[in-house]
Amino acid sequence: MRSYTLIAPAKINLYLEIIGDRPDGYHELVMILQSINLADKINIRTISDEIIRVHCNHPQVPADKTNLACRAAELMAKQFPEALAKYGGVDITVEKNIPVAAGLAGGSTNAAAVLVGVDLLWNLGLTQTEIEELGASLGSDIPFCVGGGTAIATSRGEQLAPLPSLDHIYIVLAKYRSLEVSTAWAYKTYRQEFGSTYIRNTEDLAARAAAVHSGEIVKAIVHKNATEIAQKLHNDLERVVLPTHPQVMQLRELFATQPEVLGTMMSGSGPSVFALVESEQQAQAVKQRVREAIPDEDLELFVTRTITHGIQIAS
Ligand code: C5P
Repeated sequence: MRSYTLIAPAKINLYLEIIGDRPDGYHELVMILQSINLADKINIRTISDEIIRVHCNHPQVPADKTNLACRAAELMAKQFPEALAKYGGVDITVEKNIPVAAGLAGGSTNAAAVLVGVDLLWNLGLTQTEIEELGASLGSDIPFCVGGGTAIATSRGEQLAPLPSLDHIYIVLAKYRSLEVSTAWAYKTYRQEFGSTYIRNTEDLAARAAAVHSGEIVKAIVHKNATEIAQKLHNDLERVVLPTHPQVMQLRELFATQPEVLGTMMSGSGPSVFALVESEQQAQAVKQRVREAIPDEDLELFVTRTITHGIQIAS
């Protein structure tokens, strides 16, 4: 039996702009994605039966085929049937630390870890690009989760351009445990409300996507200036999620009034909200003050920081 334990980090969106519709029913996006050191742990091992099994310590994470980690292993089995026959099936255990349905790519990073893990277990020798391409067929955020760090993501979110790494910015992250937002719902509602503003012309879409490279937030990232980055945070999906969930709006407003907070934003389709600060000490102070202001046990608070990598083998 062979086995690997992999670290699967979450991501936040420093920037998310919806620029138009795609013929496949998805949206054309311009995003800046950032890995953080809040991570799940994935153990993956070969088993003699040619089957795929998933276990998870979290009650809201399904152990069936709706689990993205399971679908990633099934995709590998379908793509590489000879390896499945030679090495056997896979047993996957997910130790969940990343909040579920939170806009933090928890499911996507688990799937990315499984793709990397199966490649290792079955000695496939795939390149990172090949793993990312397999990931893109399962979910838009999976390619980024493979390599992680800091990147511009365009198209559906699967086209990546790396940015200089940010490894020094502290983050306070908040999520109401019982509150989940469906990504599909968020995008559908955005289209209903703001679809009339979408760019329709293919050339204009390409120009808008290209423009992000010279945008203010990218300049701030290149300068590794946390204050400037924090001032340029943006997420179009806040326009539909915040009015629907006043608690999330309240959380964001509370973060915004903390003196140490450089900037605050909802991540992805929410409902997690993050705040950027300069130091771990400041992050702990903000966390404590938010906890005192909202003493609700349903509210989960984390102190985390930006990191420069995606999936890694645990040492
Ligand atoms: O790709 P992923 O499975 O993460 O996307 C979840 C849902 O979010 C999609 O089914 C789609 O409704 C929406 N979405 C979108 N445009 C994107 C990415 C996601 O409309 N670029």
